[in-house]
Amino acid sequence: MSKEPILQIKDLKVSFQSGKKFIPAVDGISFDLKNGEILGIVGESGSGKSVTSLATMGLIPSPPGKIENGEIFFEGKDLKNISEKEWRKIRGNQISMIFQEPMTSLNPLFTIGNQLLEAIRLHTDLTKAQSIVRSIELLKLVGIPRAEGILKEHPHQLSGGMRQRVMIAMAMACNPKVLIADEPTTALDVTIQAQILALMKDLNKKTNTSIILITHDLGVVAEICERVIVMYSGQIVEQGDVRKILKDPQHPYTKGLLKSVPDLRGKKDRLYSIPGTVPSPGTTLKGCRFAARCAEVFGKCREESPELFKTEKDGHEVRCFLHTLNERSDKHVGVTS
Ligand SMILES: Nc1ncnc2c1ncn2[C@@H]1O[C@H](COP(=O)(O)OP(=O)(O)OP(=O)(O)O)[C@@H](O)[C@H]1O
Ligand code: SF4
Ligand SMILES: [Mg+2]
Repeated sequence: MSKEPILQIKDLKVSFQSGKKFIPAVDGISFDLKNGEILGIVGESGSGKSVTSLATMGLIPSPPGKIENGEIFFEGKDLKNISEKEWRKIRGNQISMIFQEPMTSLNPLFTIGNQLLEAIRLHTDLTKAQSIVRSIELLKLVGIPRAEGILKEHPHQLSGGMRQRVMIAMAMACNPKVLIADEPTTALDVTIQAQILALMKDLNKKTNTSIILITHDLGVVAEICERVIVMYSGQIVEQGDVRKILKDPQHPYTKGLLKSVPDLRGKKDRLYSIPGTVPSPGTTLKGCRFAARCAEVFGKCREESPELFKTEKDGHEVRCFLHTLNERSDKHVGVTS
């Protein structure tokens, strides 16, 4: 039985004002999050991963940000023109987010206990005593051993890893239907990272919470995601089933990302790094945005922008002209930067 989408993003375009110009940060993104699935979003810094998730939570700061186009549906409901009051019912309740920088989302003035209890009481009918029990349960669930003690501490007294666990506990407090985790494990060491990923997978299994996991790291995606979206310069360049894409990536950027992951495709002496850098936002580029860094670039790539093409494989899409050509008549010219 195919899973129904719980969240649908259609042709989302978000720009930020810089002087008199609006510069696109996310440029025409469409994807579905299916009920109960774990979807990964990967891409280099600045590719638009956080902006996509903030838009999904109705949190684009305006100004300087502006949603120029697009629709977001949650359980079939169009979120485009809902009021801030309606957003508050959805945000933190139905769709919850673990932010990239935990210090900005924890209030330094209040104890962890205050903040966790408030999150629980705001979103559930539990009494104060029940909420304390639930807080301790949640902290233990995210692997904090001395949960009772932590409740009395302030955020600055905790390590980055501990603060991130507290954030996850808070995001889970209301049993959200959708959890968006923006780089939840980047600041953590490898062992704790593995524990947090296992925890999220467990949460997904037990509660059927759908998860969007944002990361730089394809290794993390390989660990727990079913589907993956690869973003480059504000656009989706490849999306589909994780196992298929890891085994047989079709976009040259995804191939480069995979080569730069240690241990995923056999042993490496030196870690590969994709040559060049992401074009700075607002650069007007003719042709494919990846052309200057692409190992397979050919003539047409510098003239026209590729669409997102469906491959023959189920739900697999790739933004590259190589998939429109049976035979490449054009000459392969290689990387130029
Ligand atoms: N508040 C803001 N004001 C101006 N520009 C912004 C703002 N937030 C994001 N941007 C721009 O939007 C683009 C995409 O940023 P985003 O934070 O989504 O990247 P990201 O993929 O999450 O990167 P990272 O991996 O570093 O977190 C960047 O060029 C960034 O400069
Ligand atoms: S369209 Fe051309 S430049 Fe762009 S990724 Fe494909 S081969 Fe490379
Ligand atoms: Mg980000």
